[in-house]
Amino acid sequence: MPHKTLRRFFAVASMLVLAIALFACKAQKEGTQEAITIVFKHGKLAGGPEAMRLILSRFEAENPGIKVKDEVLPASTDEQHQFYVINLEARSQEFDVLSMDVIWVEEFARAGWLRPLDEVFPPEERRDFFHGPLSAVTYRDNVYAIPWYIDAGLLYYRKDLLERYSLPVPRTWEELVSTARAIMKEERGLYGFIWQGKQYEGLVCNVMEYMWSRGGGLIGEDGRFNALKKENVEALRFMYDLIHTYRVSPPLVTTAVEETTRHIFGSGRAIFMRNWPYAWNIFEREGSPVKGKVGVTVLPAFSGYRSASTLGGWQLGVNRYSKHPEAAEKLVRYLTSYRVQKEMSIKMGYRPPRRSLYRDEELRKVQPFIVRLYDVFEHARPRPESPFYMMITQVLQPEFSAAITGLKSPEEALRSIQRQVEHILTMEER
Ligand code: GLC
Repeated sequence: MPHKTLRRFFAVASMLVLAIALFACKAQKEGTQEAITIVFKHGKLAGGPEAMRLILSRFEAENPGIKVKDEVLPASTDEQHQFYVINLEARSQEFDVLSMDVIWVEEFARAGWLRPLDEVFPPEERRDFFHGPLSAVTYRDNVYAIPWYIDAGLLYYRKDLLERYSLPVPRTWEELVSTARAIMKEERGLYGFIWQGKQYEGLVCNVMEYMWSRGGGLIGEDGRFNALKKENVEALRFMYDLIHTYRVSPPLVTTAVEETTRHIFGSGRAIFMRNWPYAWNIFEREGSPVKGKVGVTVLPAFSGYRSASTLGGWQLGVNRYSKHPEAAEKLVRYLTSYRVQKEMSIKMGYRPPRRSLYRDEELRKVQPFIVRLYDVFEHARPRPESPFYMMITQVLQPEFSAAITGLKSPEEALRSIQRQVEHILTMEER
């Protein structure tokens, strides 16, 4: 072979080898790059695990390279809180995205357990959210979570029974008692009014609604903690009376949580129920014994006062110790997006914290009552906002429980609350 041809041959051959090597390298990178798996922890959801799986599978399809494993914790907020405190305190990297009750975000942010999300949740976008949850995810000028779904206490009633006896939907607590009693007299075996009275967080949510709708509450006008007010005494006494004097609420309410009451009402055994918005979708499902018979409205107030609902709901945040923070942030953004919040309202019964969704034509068509919920959410009232809230509620729960079961008088319970909470708050000032 002539010298020149030989050189050209080697030049072409080495370029070819280089190209093959580069290609192989790229192929290897793409082929062997393992998909990362992020873990999403959340409480048991209404609507079954399939609905959430479908939502997560779509995220995986849209984000090749990220797999999501969802791990379910018990439904109770108190038990979930305990899980997080133990694991985050130990800097666990076992989960990346976590779902948090409105009452915890400040505590977790203060402890340094959450990744700040200011950049993934920019101020222009925040404006669309209801004020309550937005304030709950903000701690000292930073945001630490994005609201996922919103809750507020509602009154569910049996439309068919009220119509049968030509009785209006009660606007006051007093009216609710007389209406329940009138129907109970005619319809044997029905409970009048059921609510959540077990010694747990749900009880605090219920009690606050009676206190506020009587003109009371735990925080005074000066912003200081003040439990011992005559309005609060009356509110607790009324809850005791519902069970022991008017007998419209069965004693089982003192051990009931959301799902206990939802099951009883959903099987047609009660006239009125206090619960969060999620129950509606379940009552309207095919085969539900109360399908088409249920109305939902704002909670009653004591006569002369205004109705009040406790603000609840869940927010998504990223574990500060996560090994995959970018992927975790992507998942949080996706799950709190307009389209996923809309889908969760329609398929799972969880209501969106994004206000613009209440103007969404399709959502309003499928769930017309959503329009009325807007005002309830806008005015829902928060439990005391404090990084020490969990310590405060550990005081409130047994005292409220003692008052509604008659173990203590309302005055005794409130006095004990005042003494103990004052002590906790001196820690906050330190
Ligand atoms: C619901 C609410 C939550 C509240 C809990 C009480 O999950 O969204 O805020 O703390 O009920 O049981």
